[in-house]
Amino acid sequence: MSGVAAGGLLLTGAGYAPTRSPARSLRQDPFGVGLASGDPSADGFVLWTRLVLDPLGLNGRGGMPARDYDVQWQVATDERFADIVRTGTETAAWRSAHSVHVELQGLQPGREYFYRFRADGHVSPAGRTRTSPAGLSPLTFAIAACAHYEHGYYTAYKRLAEQEPDLVVHLGDYMYEYQPDGYTAPGGNIRHHSGGQKCATLADYRMRHAQYKSDPDLQAAHAVAPWLVAFDDHEIENNWAGEKSSSGAPAFERRRASAFQAYYENMPLRRASLPHGAAIKINRRVAWGDLAQFHLLDTRQFRDDQACEDGVRAGCDDRLDEKRTLLGQDQHRWLLSGLKASQARWNLIGQQILMAQKDYKLGPGSEVNLDSWDGYAAERASLLRGLKDVANPVVLTGDAHMHHAAELHADPGDPDSKAAVELVTSSIASDGDGYRDVERTAAVLAENPHISYIDQRRGYILARLTPDTLTADFRTLDYISRRGAPARTSARFTVPSGERSLV
Ligand SMILES: [Fe+2]
Repeated sequence: MSGVAAGGLLLTGAGYAPTRSPARSLRQDPFGVGLASGDPSADGFVLWTRLVLDPLGLNGRGGMPARDYDVQWQVATDERFADIVRTGTETAAWRSAHSVHVELQGLQPGREYFYRFRADGHVSPAGRTRTSPAGLSPLTFAIAACAHYEHGYYTAYKRLAEQEPDLVVHLGDYMYEYQPDGYTAPGGNIRHHSGGQKCATLADYRMRHAQYKSDPDLQAAHAVAPWLVAFDDHEIENNWAGEKSSSGAPAFERRRASAFQAYYENMPLRRASLPHGAAIKINRRVAWGDLAQFHLLDTRQFRDDQACEDGVRAGCDDRLDEKRTLLGQDQHRWLLSGLKASQARWNLIGQQILMAQKDYKLGPGSEVNLDSWDGYAAERASLLRGLKDVANPVVLTGDAHMHHAAELHADPGDPDSKAAVELVTSSIASDGDGYRDVERTAAVLAENPHISYIDQRRGYILARLTPDTLTADFRTLDYISRRGAPARTSARFTVPSGERSLV
């Protein structure tokens, strides 16, 4: 409960009681950045909102008065809130940029719930969420990543929401730190970041998150299902690695702490992910009954600096150094022991960067991306060898701004050493409209025979998981520089249980 309450509002079983607030200090709707839910368990989930009057308000404060507010919340089994099963009050504190996290327990497994908030007499729209099931009930989930706001409309989020998945997995680059027009899409930017500089301060990161979350298509995607989120680089800074800024940004530890705080404040994360200074816990496991175990990774905070000054390069022997780590030793051990202990039918490893080796150079010689797992080849080999006795491992990836479907071989180049399959989602918006270049794609696939599919258009993946099969629909949009593009399935792959290959 807040010490500075908004006037002793009460909720009743039938709905919200009339306001007894002496004076309403929030004259406008404070739910301008929507609501969200996340990290479902069999008996609960996290509910999130942040009170914002003006997303671009001064100092990242969203135009909010300098005081705390009480926020009431309700959870119901029906969309009309006739059957309210839980209610409560949380403080939207000034020091937390008026963000609210509610962690629920004690609900029924495998069912849909609806939730809404109320602050100072204003009632939010309703969101839908769900608890994870017991047993082997099927799961439909969407995979998304990379949503540069300036590069296009969020039609892919809208289409994803229309498909009403049970769960959304977001693998990072949820927002981008660049200054306005600091990164221009190939076809030009169609809208613009606010603020005058690249994100550096807590105020900058808070405002950037609020600007992104003001988008109605993103709000719709949050309101339809619980999300599992894990950041990549741009939530902090392009291609950062551990304690190292890639741009030599001053006071990088402070910048990291600011970015982590704003990330936590703006995401439906459990308290276990509350940052402590420049440290945050994002790697975690989320179970979906006996069907699936999600293992979400942090591929930024514990990694060694990129080899050979980063980029797509040829001839970098350092990338093969056995001592190099991407996950850090602790996380690497945590991942392998959790994979081995998992009793789930499917083990879904949600992470950021391309795990499949990829030669970007057509013809003789090779060039690889040193920011991806190719820059940490020895650790990748050890991880893939460790998947041998793991039930149905599937790697889920973002970052690449193009769809890929690939097979991962413990012994690169030996198609008999199948370790896992990798599904890489294209971007929601980053790099603009995208394109389809059939000839070049065929040449890249010929160069990389373990990769079955590449598509450079925007989109997301919709996956359907049953005890027997994973089916992945690669959804693509022809344009995002205008609104209204339909999404269609441009490729469908099936992974039968027990196989580690794409059909
Ligand atoms: Fe990205």
